[in-house]
Amino acid sequence: MEVKILPIQEIYNEIANKIVKLVAQKPNAILGLATGGTAVGVYDALVKAYNDKKITFKDVKTFNLDEYYPIEDSNPQSYRYYMNHNLFDKVDIDKNNTHFPSIDNYQKYDELIAIAGGIDFQVLGIGSNGHIAFNEPGTPFDSLTHVVKLAESTIQDNARFFNGDISLVPTQAISMGLKSIMFTKQIVLIATGKNKAKAIKQLMDQEPNPALPASILRSHANVTIYLDPDAASLLC
Ligand code: F6R
Repeated sequence: MEVKILPIQEIYNEIANKIVKLVAQKPNAILGLATGGTAVGVYDALVKAYNDKKITFKDVKTFNLDEYYPIEDSNPQSYRYYMNHNLFDKVDIDKNNTHFPSIDNYQKYDELIAIAGGIDFQVLGIGSNGHIAFNEPGTPFDSLTHVVKLAESTIQDNARFFNGDISLVPTQAISMGLKSIMFTKQIVLIATGKNKAKAIKQLMDQEPNPALPASILRSHANVTIYLDPDAASLLC
């Protein structure tokens, strides 16, 4: 695992530049995408690159990591809505090429990804409890896309997107599994803010173990961890 500590905007620009380069080399690249507060800056930087004519998404395919369940696509808190709002509606991507796991497709989601050619570049955030996608602590390392019961800490963390009202946060989600994520060819994980510092410290200190889902990434051959100074604040 390579670790880079950078100011937030530099993290976003560097990751967007990696995607711009990848798509220049491989116009039909497959991107694996995360939602959440952290990832917004990556999409802003990609929209800017698109407006500057540095990238076209015409032939790009995307697979999102997760989606709440149940939730309507039209709900502003759904991850479909988030992706449309932050990226897809602002660039030239064909929405037929954008995919989300759902209650209807989750048993075939990994196959769908494999048939498309596999994810070339995966963007990940990390939960304060060390989750990646919605793989909460205790998720088996051999998990594929599955239905998840969200951890209490995740529901509390995400209540900020639901007017601070915990009762409005769905208690379940559909998520790519840890094994699904390990199949991706290149991974960038972004952590910003002090509330991620503990999970990051654990990630650096611990051998892979299901109590800290992100620790599986230590066994992946091509991972870069991007930290802002706050997320890195507990590292020596
Ligand atoms: C979202 C996802 C989650 C988030 C994580 C961090 O698609 O996969 O793992 O990346 O919960 O969320 P934020 O960035 O809101 O702190």
